Amino acid sequence: MSTWFITGASRGIGQEFVRQLLGRGDTVFAAVRTLASAKIQLQEYEKLSPGKLHLIQLDVSDMTSISVAAQSVKQSLKVLKLNLIKVSVSTRYETE
Ligand SMILES: NC(=O)c1ccc[n+]([C@@H]2O[C@H](COP(=O)([O-])OP(=O)(O)OC[C@H]3O[C@@H](n4cnc5c(N)ncnc54)[C@H](OP(=O)(O)O)[C@@H]3O)[C@@H](O)[C@H]2O)c1
Repeated sequence: MSTWFITGASRGIGQEFVRQLLGRGDTVFAAVRTLASAKIQLQEYEKLSPGKLHLIQLDVSDMTSISVAAQSVKQSLKVLKLNLIKVSVSTRYETE
């Protein structure tokens, strides 16, 4: 099982990544600009892998938002080993 961090998860291709990765049992940090509306949009996907969907507030144009999101992910993971999907570009990061 892998862990993923997906930006733009509220709709479009980001939302579809969330659905498919939860569907195969992976853990997903779904980064969205507006938490309230994302909860409604992504709620049904939570049922695919209960407990494995983590909603993170993130505006990629705001450095403070990026720092807060990074801290939030760091606190949730014992070992930082995750995959990043940013819009149509996928990059793999691994550190221990
Ligand atoms: N859809 C496809 O099949 C497809 C295929 C290949 C490549 N792509 C590429 O993938 C990218 C996304 O396509 P899409 O169809 O998914 O677009 P989309 O439906 O317009 O979704 C864009 C996403 O980016 C988020 N976003 C925009 N500005 C942001 C910011 N400053 N901080 C954080 N999130 C932000 C939006 O969040 P809000 O909901 O808050 O606005 C939304 O979740 C595009 O570059 C597109 O060319 C798409």
